[in-house]
Amino acid sequence: MAITPHGGALVNCFVTEDAKAALLQKVDKLPQIQVDAYAAFDIDGIAKGILSPLTGFMGEGDTHSVLDKMCLSSGVPWTIPNLLPVSDVIADKLEVGAEIVIKDDLGSPIAVLTLREKFRLDKQHLVKQIYRTDDTAHPGVAYTMSTGDVYLAGPLAVLADRKVEHQEYNLTPAETRAAFKSHGWKRIVAFQTRNPIHRAHEYLTKCALEMCDGLLIHPLMGTTKSDDIPGDVRMACYHALMEYYYPKDHVMLSIMPVNMRYAGPREAIMHAIIRKNYGCTHFIVGRDHAGVGNYYGSYDAHYIFDEIDPAALAITPLFFDHAFFSKRTNGMATKKTCPGSDAEHVFLSGTKVREMLARGEAPPPEFTRPEVAEILIKWATGRQ
Ligand code: ADX
Repeated sequence: MAITPHGGALVNCFVTEDAKAALLQKVDKLPQIQVDAYAAFDIDGIAKGILSPLTGFMGEGDTHSVLDKMCLSSGVPWTIPNLLPVSDVIADKLEVGAEIVIKDDLGSPIAVLTLREKFRLDKQHLVKQIYRTDDTAHPGVAYTMSTGDVYLAGPLAVLADRKVEHQEYNLTPAETRAAFKSHGWKRIVAFQTRNPIHRAHEYLTKCALEMCDGLLIHPLMGTTKSDDIPGDVRMACYHALMEYYYPKDHVMLSIMPVNMRYAGPREAIMHAIIRKNYGCTHFIVGRDHAGVGNYYGSYDAHYIFDEIDPAALAITPLFFDHAFFSKRTNGMATKKTCPGSDAEHVFLSGTKVREMLARGEAPPPEFTRPEVAEILIKWATGRQ
C-alpha cells in the first residue's frame, strides 16, 4: 500500500472546468491582487497537493502553532508557515469574507482566495523561529523582511497550474504516486537538491537506493537565490548522470516546483513532508541540508527530526555524514566508513569549485563526473 499523504489525503484545489468558466466571468468584478513568483509557486504547491493538507494560505492560529510548536493547530507536523504577505495599502482595500482574484507575477489570474483573515505578525519572531537568525544577510530573512506586513489567509480555488521549464518532468504528487505503482516500487527514497549532482550526492543516493526499490531524484525548481546554478544547467547535469551513471529501471527524475527557503533544519522537515506527499517512503538528509552560509550546524537538520513524532511524520529520514572521496580506500566514503586524515579526502568547497569552473578547469573526477564538469564549465565560462 502506498504511503498515506500528510494529514490523510492528497489535496486538489483546482476548480472544475465548469466552475472555472463561471469564475473567469466574474474576475473583472472582484478585487484583484498581483503576487510574486514566490507566492505563485506556493499557490501551485497547495493546488496540486504538494503541500497537503493545506488548502490555502495559513491563518494566525496555524501560523503561531507552526512557529512555536512545529505543527498545525490540528497537531499535524509542519515547520514553515505558508503565508501571503501584502502591503498595508493593499490590505486596507480588501474585506474579510470577500473573494479575491490572485494574478501571478506575469499578470494572469491563477486563483481566487476567499479571505478569511487579515493579520500581522512580529516579524523578528517569525524569522528567528524559521531561520534561527534575524540577520538580513540570510536570503530567507531578507525576503521575509522585504514583503508586506499584512498576511492574507483563506482557502484557494485554483484556475491554472504553473508551468516551469522542463514541464514534462514536473510530475504532480498524484503522477509520481502512479509512476511508483506502475514500477512496482514499495520503498522509494527521495533526493532533494538545488545543485548539480556531484560525487558526494551520487554516493548518498546510491547508498540509499541499495536499501530501497526506487530513487526519485527530485531537484527543487521553485525560486532560488540569484547565485544558485540555474535550473536548465542543473537539468542538463541530471540528464548526463541519468544517461551514464544511474540504472534506468530504478531511478526517476522529476522536478519539485517549490521555493527554496534556506531554512536548514526546519526546511529539512518540510522537504520530507513534501516528498511523503509525492509518495516517497524515505528521504535523504545529508550534511547542512538546505543550509546557507554558516547559519546552521552541519547536522542540525538531523537533530530536528528528534523533535517530531516519527509516527506523525511517517516518512523515514536517512541521515548521512559528510561524504567525500577517500584516497586511502579509493572510493566514496564518510568518516563513519573509512579511516584516514582529512588530507586523504578529496573535498572542495562550493566557492573553490566555482573558481575552477570559471577558469575553465574541471574539478577532479573524484569530486564531479567529467560529463557534469563539461556542462558546468560551458555554463561558467559562457556567462563571463
Ligand atoms: S540542499 O539545499 O538541497 O540541501 P544540496 O543540493 O547541495 O543542497 O544538497 C542536497 C542533499 O545532499 C542534502 O541532503 C545535503 O545535506 C546533502 N549533501 C550535499 N553535499 C554533501 C556531502 N558532501 N556530504 C553529505 N551530504 C551532502
